[in-house]
Amino acid sequence: MCGIIGYLGKDASKNVIEGLEKLEYRGYDSAGIAIKTNNDITIFKDKGRVNHLKELININSKSDLAIGHTRWATHGEANQINAHPHTSYSGRYIIVHNGVIENYKSIKYSYLKDIDFISKTDTEVIANLIDYFSKSYNTIDSIRKAMTLMEGSYAVLLIDKLDLNKIYFFKNKSPLVISKVNNEFILASDILAMIDHTNSYYSVSDSSLGYVSNDEIYMIDLLGNKLEFSLSYFDVSSESVDKGLYEHYMLKEISESPEVIRRILSLYYDSDGINIDYNIIKLLQNADHINIVASGTSMYASMMTKYFFEKYCSIPSEVFCASELVYSSPIVTKNPVYLFLSQSGETADSITVLKKIKGIYPVISMTNSVTSSIARLSDYTLNLCAGREIAVASTKTYTAEIALSAILAFAVRSKADELKEELLKTADIMDKMLINKDLYIQLANRIYNANSLFYMGRGIDYWVCMEAALKLKEVSYIHAEAYPSGELKHGPIALVDENTPIISIITQEGTNPIVRVNIKEVRARNANTYVISMETLSKNTDDIVIPNVIHYLTPLVTGMVVQLIAYYTAKLKNTDIDKPKNLAKCVTVE
Ligand code: M6R
Repeated sequence: MCGIIGYLGKDASKNVIEGLEKLEYRGYDSAGIAIKTNNDITIFKDKGRVNHLKELININSKSDLAIGHTRWATHGEANQINAHPHTSYSGRYIIVHNGVIENYKSIKYSYLKDIDFISKTDTEVIANLIDYFSKSYNTIDSIRKAMTLMEGSYAVLLIDKLDLNKIYFFKNKSPLVISKVNNEFILASDILAMIDHTNSYYSVSDSSLGYVSNDEIYMIDLLGNKLEFSLSYFDVSSESVDKGLYEHYMLKEISESPEVIRRILSLYYDSDGINIDYNIIKLLQNADHINIVASGTSMYASMMTKYFFEKYCSIPSEVFCASELVYSSPIVTKNPVYLFLSQSGETADSITVLKKIKGIYPVISMTNSVTSSIARLSDYTLNLCAGREIAVASTKTYTAEIALSAILAFAVRSKADELKEELLKTADIMDKMLINKDLYIQLANRIYNANSLFYMGRGIDYWVCMEAALKLKEVSYIHAEAYPSGELKHGPIALVDENTPIISIITQEGTNPIVRVNIKEVRARNANTYVISMETLSKNTDDIVIPNVIHYLTPLVTGMVVQLIAYYTAKLKNTDIDKPKNLAKCVTVE
């Protein structure tokens, strides 16, 4: 997590602040900037958002070099002292860092015992270690020495006060890109920070270091060999981050869901049917087991991936929570395939698993960023094409993951036409459901005062309940649990009383009667019950009724409905919907 940006060129402080605003999705516990003014460096930093940082500085002051940071706290609480940039003990080096130095304690003990550390961060160790080596080496070699000792992930920008015409950089595992616009340079965690300036960039690969200065990007590997690097391009329009007329990104992104389905269809279908790399299809057709690895919302979408592959391709599949996989013993079959689902493609828990199995088993991934680490590490990758998702809570990418999983499974089964029609119909129904704003607001009004809430359902509907509970927790801060409706009576029903809202999802004919019985059971314990149902199964007392959708695509519609309930509940609670507390959009620490 954390976002870093450096700017070498005109209006550096203004450009860094604007870049930090775009990187804030990576963490927003604190923000800071180091600005070159009058041949010296001034640091401004504090707890809180970039908006607050802006109040501390004169954004228009003349400067031709600055580095900035927006933080998701790992080592040390979110306060002013732990905010970046950090300065080395002699005052020579100033750095911003994204990542985690796993062995920072042993480095401190072995090399920096006599240093008084100011902050609780692992980052200060990096600055001090380089300072320590600078007694014997020049800055580049000091960085190189430090890199050979540091374990973990890092993308670092460094200013050397003895040479204020350069920004140094070094990286391992955490993302870092550089762009050159005329004679100016931008270095950042994400191309998003550059979209107002350019559509081209250079990727910095792991274990490399260097600097930008005057007209030059100098980059070497750990052995000192000069590295060649090539220019890549991105589509500025697909990176667009404009909120348009929407009050929040979350609402905008939920509303884009039907369009995402249509976009996926136009990309993965042609006149002959499904258009997916045949190597991927062949791999899955020969698979005797699919291990699906993901976290958070992607993990809940994966429940449908498993369903599609088991039900329509008869391939046994398992969903693994990425951070738990190391503690499980997946069944070792003859031809397993690993499938990774990740919006960001940068989730550390998934990357750790991927690196362990890479080269041993075939890996396919679905990500919303084809240049991400997960995409690059996989043997094959499929683009979710959901467009940039800015709100921290995932919404349209949940839709994309389910839609693309269905297409992939149906491609393996060679039954494509029926699915295309059904996906198009479903997208139209989602458009209609977006208009029913009042229904969601009504339900939000009934639940927003609750301390705790249950979502319940069975089978497919239960899996949507999991995502529903996560979404509500994330943005409204109401404690919410998803339960299979048959399981509630085995314990959790003890928590149910007149203050407990219970929202049921009913879209499957087979489970409708029994879920209705379960609703009666909790109503008998005074729970306030609400029902989201599908038209043919609905009762006139149900709260939200969705038009009929083919049974295996209902999560696309109910998923969107529960996202809207979470959104409007959060609005009533006046939370920071797009940037909920304690979270970050991409979780790059384990
Ligand atoms: O980028 P990923 O899909 O790998 O991210 C996984 C989770 O961190 C993510 O889904 C998280 O749970 C979101 N905040 C959910 O809204």
